[in-house]
Amino acid sequence: MVEDAPYEVRDILITGGAGQVGLELARADWPADVRLHMPTRDQLDLTDADAVRVAFAATPFRAVINSGAYTAVDKAETEVAAAFAANAMGPAILAEVTRAAGIPLIQVSTDYVFDGSGEQDYAESDPVGPLGVYGASKLAGEVAVTTGNPRSVVMRTAWVLSPHRANFLKTMLRLAADRPALRVVADQEGCPTSARDIAEALKTIALRMIDDAGAPTGVYHFVNAGSTTWAGLAAEIMALSAARGGPSATVEGIPTADYPTPARRPSNSRLDTFKITRDYGIAPRPWKDAVAEIVAELIPETTR
Ligand SMILES: NC(=O)c1ccc[n+]([C@@H]2O[C@H](COP(=O)([O-])OP(=O)(O)OC[C@H]3O[C@@H](n4cnc5c(N)ncnc54)[C@H](OP(=O)(O)O)[C@@H]3O)[C@@H](O)[C@H]2O)c1
Repeated sequence: MVEDAPYEVRDILITGGAGQVGLELARADWPADVRLHMPTRDQLDLTDADAVRVAFAATPFRAVINSGAYTAVDKAETEVAAAFAANAMGPAILAEVTRAAGIPLIQVSTDYVFDGSGEQDYAESDPVGPLGVYGASKLAGEVAVTTGNPRSVVMRTAWVLSPHRANFLKTMLRLAADRPALRVVADQEGCPTSARDIAEALKTIALRMIDDAGAPTGVYHFVNAGSTTWAGLAAEIMALSAARGGPSATVEGIPTADYPTPARRPSNSRLDTFKITRDYGIAPRPWKDAVAEIVAELIPETTR
């Protein structure tokens, strides 16, 4: 603790701090009494139970947000042990230590826990059925967290976009700089979501859970409002980029069958966000607004 702090400091551990969501958690606007601890994977490997216990012995954390994960969906098909270590055993270790410390754990999860066969927007109570190793490993992490620490929230999100690291939006801009046309899958539908908005939602939940022992727990969905296909998202990115003088290409929609990948993906992974709005007052903005904000950050007006 800080000896001369004029108020009690709220220490929060954020794992996966170098990831898309982690970087947005770092630049979110936190209350002055919150002190974030954001170890890199080298500094704190989630799968190392002893290292996690040492970190907990050193600091009286008030909450943990786990945004660290093995996120290589296709590679996970062959790196099964690595995916389950980070996505299932890591959260299990965090559940154990947070429960022992009596503090809340907020775990980020994925739309890929669903098989995508439904026509509806998926609610938290809908049956899960992951199509691949990544989704299965994340589902195992959900179970470990919700059963391991009763003061926990699992927040599923989807199609994460940001100005950081590798993601679909950045890939489309990079490819458009070299090619006149892009062929993009048009029969998978989901909810593009800004890592910044995910970070804001996680912040709201963490602060409420720290202050209110009776705060709602369980599984929640958070995505930006509305939905589209990967081809629809690509077309929107191209339009936004062109309007700012950035790279642009025409988008041709293709079926999934024409773009085979090692991991199968759900054809519908739209998530219903009614519950998080009802319980936490979090109201997602439209995905097009979120995408426009990221494109504007990547292609500043001054480059026009
Ligand atoms: N990306 C998506 O489209 C998407 C969609 C739905 C849900 N999600 C979920 O959203 C969350 C955040 O995703 P993201 O896009 O921010 O992921 P990301 O950019 O891939 O970042 C993940 C972070 O976790 C770290 N990490 C991996 N294994 C670790 C370990 N054993 N110990 C400690 N840290 C470890 C990575 O370290 P390095 O920096 O060393 O790689 C990286 O910093 C994850 O739970 C993911 O499953 C993502």
